[in-house]
Amino acid sequence: MTKKILRVLNGEAVWPPPVWLMRQAGRFLPEYRAVRATTSGFMDLCTTPEKAAEVTLQPVRRFGMDAAILFSDILVLPWALGQDLAFEEGEGPVLPPIRTAEQIAALDVARVRGAIAPILETVRLVRAALDEREREGEGQATLIGFAGSPFTVACYMVEGGGSKEFAHVRAMAHGQPELFEALMEKIITATITYLSAQVLSGAEAIMLFDSWSGVLSPVLFRKHVIEATARIVSKLRERFPRTPIIGFPRLAGLMLGEYAAGTGVQGVAIDTSAEPGIAASMIPADMALQGNLDPLALVAGGASLTAETAAILEALKGRPHIFNLGHGILPQTNPDHVAALVAQIRAA
Ligand code: CP3
Repeated sequence: MTKKILRVLNGEAVWPPPVWLMRQAGRFLPEYRAVRATTSGFMDLCTTPEKAAEVTLQPVRRFGMDAAILFSDILVLPWALGQDLAFEEGEGPVLPPIRTAEQIAALDVARVRGAIAPILETVRLVRAALDEREREGEGQATLIGFAGSPFTVACYMVEGGGSKEFAHVRAMAHGQPELFEALMEKIITATITYLSAQVLSGAEAIMLFDSWSGVLSPVLFRKHVIEATARIVSKLRERFPRTPIIGFPRLAGLMLGEYAAGTGVQGVAIDTSAEPGIAASMIPADMALQGNLDPLALVAGGASLTAETAAILEALKGRPHIFNLGHGILPQTNPDHVAALVAQIRAA
């Protein structure tokens, strides 16, 4: 029997819907914190395949999630291209900002293959463990590989880290379009290499995270979100026609329909602000929707969590739907609330 998430991404309405949560491997789990404490930092964890595979599998074991998402980060790509990357405790990622043609020229696409080797080993280890679980009758979780979408990756590369407005990257995209396009070209090429290698190593579906797509004007959204994503999707679909792709154009708002029609993805993930029924009306009836519980409802638990979950289930019943959050799970989330959420969905 085909795994539930793959059936949904193939256009089937599975009831109750399969479930996994963005950032499901992370600090809200004591067993994650225990493994994390044995490393010298977040990148050490990402590049130590046995440990990265272990934390990838933790939420599958604990909650019986329908997907395992590779434990890595979208910023592994700039790091593989040669940009320095540090995760400062409590501060998020820090990179030396890229603003000049010389800095863009120094990014080395040929370096990517070697740099990503440990991540690919994690993919192989997780896939072997999931296959073993399946043989033992312990469930069928789909292994999802991922990358950031080029625009969101460019945001961190140009800004040098997180930002409220991403003013530097938007200024570059508007004011120095050739420079920005040269950067996007390198990211797109490297992302195709990176994702192809993940599929060849055992990833069964791919997700593209475009966390900051919503900061762009419609004109630039078409170019740097839709067209850039479409180039990656068409290349991957040509090489791996049976590997579905989920796009997450966070805060895309009214651009969601155009994104769904223009990128070639098999599923779209929607953020917390999207009304699920309206989002569904903007995409083809056989395209999967993924989402979109508010991570703060999961922190709160109780009546609000139950009501919000029921509303999403009801709105998307009869459609291909993968239950998920509208953004990543928060570190302060009580794992018991996650267990209650999964139980509610399974009993629907
Ligand atoms: O469980 C999973 O979802 C798999 C692994 C995963 C991580 N990051 C692990 C992580 C995935 C899919 C991501 C995606 C990611 N990373 C995105 C896109 C989704 C989103 O949240 O919008 C973005 C923008 C990043 C960049 C990033 N990584 C930031 C801004 C931060 C710091 C904020 C934070 O939560 O600490 C990270 C660090 C990070 N990535 C952690 C984890 C588990 C926490 C670091 C730690 O455990 O020490």
